[in-house]
Amino acid sequence: TAELGDPEFLALLDNEGRIEPRDAMPDAYRKTLIRQIAQHAHSEIIGMQPEGNWITRAPSLHRKAILLAKVQDEAGHGLYLYAAAETLGIDRSELLDALHEGRQKYSSIFNYPTTSWADIGAIGWLVDGAAIVNQVPLCRCSYGPYARAMIRICKEESFHQRQGFDLLLTLSNGTPAQHAMAQDAVNRWWWPSLMMFGPPDEASPNSARSTRWGIKRFSNDELRQRFVDIAVPQSEALGLTIPDPDLRWNVDRDHYDFGEIDFSELFDVIAGKGYCNDERMERRTSAHNDGEWVREAAMAYAAKKTEAAA
Ligand code: 3HC
Repeated sequence: TAELGDPEFLALLDNEGRIEPRDAMPDAYRKTLIRQIAQHAHSEIIGMQPEGNWITRAPSLHRKAILLAKVQDEAGHGLYLYAAAETLGIDRSELLDALHEGRQKYSSIFNYPTTSWADIGAIGWLVDGAAIVNQVPLCRCSYGPYARAMIRICKEESFHQRQGFDLLLTLSNGTPAQHAMAQDAVNRWWWPSLMMFGPPDEASPNSARSTRWGIKRFSNDELRQRFVDIAVPQSEALGLTIPDPDLRWNVDRDHYDFGEIDFSELFDVIAGKGYCNDERMERRTSAHNDGEWVREAAMAYAAKKTEAAA
């Protein structure tokens, strides 16, 4: 249909062309990119909360320094992504208002609590591992600024994933209590990590257009399957069990078969009924309000610099 764009726009996409901010683009393309990039950015900054919860309680200076660096990275990912969204003609403040007023989303995964130190390992291994599977294809997204932001983000995510795996391996090979703590964290984070990839393809209203536009290179279910195929051998290396009795290698499919996902949980969490939705938004909005003076000072300073330069 016309909303997908005119023939030359679609031909450019078909030739793996890149769309840059000043190029002509259909409104619907611009709108869905603002939607996805903004919600990706919101996910990054909300994601700082569950992890930040353990910075003051990390078991060693070494682990504390790593976690500090990771949480700072997430803030930086939010920055790159808000900057990429702003190239589409919208201001970051409008996007944050949309988040705070519930008109835009953030990833369901960050509405789960981090009840033990092992959760920091499970988030690194599973959540950042899932993020990498989802984000590597986005490095080839048709919209230039988003694809380029992804390249640097993916490099930093692989550090996040490695440190999570290393943390879990240490616990898994530790005392029986430490092994049990690591297994408990994997039990709680496994299924929500599969839900991160979104609803099943047949219930994914944005997929068809995002695929036609070269934004989504693989479907929600394809990436979910890819993540399972990567994570299962890693869980064996960790000596931890994935909490899915139906998980088994299917030699005909050359993939792991896995159990039914309860997508009603995903839709409930997206609708705000997760464990931590209220807490996350309350922390976010109060941090935003408490930070008002910093934004005012930065704007005043910028205005003074501009005046002086004039
Ligand atoms: N959490 C919250 N909302 C979700 C969701 C999830 N896990 N999965 C899907 N949704 C929402 C979609 O946003 C959409 O709602 P909207 O139209 O109001 O935006 C609706 O459910 C239907 O889903 P669709 O499959 O039709 O939507 P998409 O085609 O946009 O696919 C997506 C969803 C796969 C998440 C896609 O948007 C995407 O690839 N986004 C970029 C990656 C991203 O946002 N990752 C966040 C993970 S956290 C992270 O990366 C931080 C890292 O440091 C750990």
